[in-house]
Amino acid sequence: MIYLDNGATSFPKPPGVLEAVLAALSQPASPGRSGHRPAHEAAKTVYRARRNLGALLGFPNLERVAFTPNVTVAINLALNGFRFRAGDRIISSALEHNSVARPLKLLTETAGVIWDLVYPREDGLVHAADFGKAIRPETRLAAVCHASNVTGAIAPAREIKEALGDIPLLLDVAQSAGSLSLGDLGSYADLVAFTGHKGLLGPTGTGGLWIREGLPTRPLAVGGSGSRSESLEHPDFLPDALEAGTLNVHGLAGLAAGVDFILEKGAAAVRAGEMELLATFLDALGAVPTATVLGRAIPIAKRVATVSLNLRGWSSSDLAARLEKDYGIMTRAGLHCAPLAHRAMGTFPGGAVRFSFGAFNSPGEALEAARALAALGKEKN
Ligand SMILES: Cc1ncc(COP(=O)(O)O)c(C=O)c1O
Repeated sequence: MIYLDNGATSFPKPPGVLEAVLAALSQPASPGRSGHRPAHEAAKTVYRARRNLGALLGFPNLERVAFTPNVTVAINLALNGFRFRAGDRIISSALEHNSVARPLKLLTETAGVIWDLVYPREDGLVHAADFGKAIRPETRLAAVCHASNVTGAIAPAREIKEALGDIPLLLDVAQSAGSLSLGDLGSYADLVAFTGHKGLLGPTGTGGLWIREGLPTRPLAVGGSGSRSESLEHPDFLPDALEAGTLNVHGLAGLAAGVDFILEKGAAAVRAGEMELLATFLDALGAVPTATVLGRAIPIAKRVATVSLNLRGWSSSDLAARLEKDYGIMTRAGLHCAPLAHRAMGTFPGGAVRFSFGAFNSPGEALEAARALAALGKEKN
């Protein structure tokens, strides 16, 4: 199998992740609840995950990292804090995943929020100046996909924040965390939503939200927290305020190990490896004249290792099916839960086939994928 669907979920996981999950499963796991030794060990495991994420992504205050089952819940949690009212405006890019787009659409319907979209320009990139132009007196938040799961385009997050000034920036780093060097995120983003099972190399069921001090928070659920048990009110201090119920200690053990792997290798080295794969694949696609790459003009320095394309004469679903059947190459066809992005790129509703490389792919696999595309391209032309 050549696994090129790391944008959906990364595979394989580093051996340390499997070992850490197994080790966590071999012990009782009730962090912050019971007073016995294994409960303390479980609490340490959760702390390790927080500490590693803080080190990799640049979160200065670890208690402001709340764990969630994935980035989708983290984004909903972030939005819930704002108590939006009718007439409030939220800016997003037109490259958002449905995990941002659907909550925003719902807010327009249930709270009367006005949703302003910033489209990518001809070069396939969103530009900070366009966020500046979209600001109105009623703008309360900007929600931005840091790296598109369709085109791989990286949004200039720091410049966007400069354009926004005091307006908070919620960054969805689902596709950039673990791929880009993001050690200073906390210096410009205001809310950072991450998922554990993609570039961070952890298990599914892990993710979280970091929230800058001073920003409003409101839980999506209340209940047991292991703290202030005498009270029927859920605690109001972080992270307990946003972490009702027993955490996914087994998953977080794996996430801590996944982030350890990246920290040990070095985020810059991971990025360099992914850029090499990207360059190899894009270069080899030069020999596939019937391929149309979405956002072909986006320079490698402004992309994560994700390339979506169509091949003349092929539907995206047929092409992905043949890549798997004949070549053992796993990709993802269709709209990638990002209909807005496909509309913006002119590939709605057919979508495209996405090749998303990860930390364990080799340049040989990228070449193999391009060769398969060349052969399938000739079949229909
Ligand atoms: C940019 C982006 N945001 C959000 C998500 C949702 O991730 P999860 O399903 O882990 O919540 C994805 C993953 O598909 C994504 O690529």
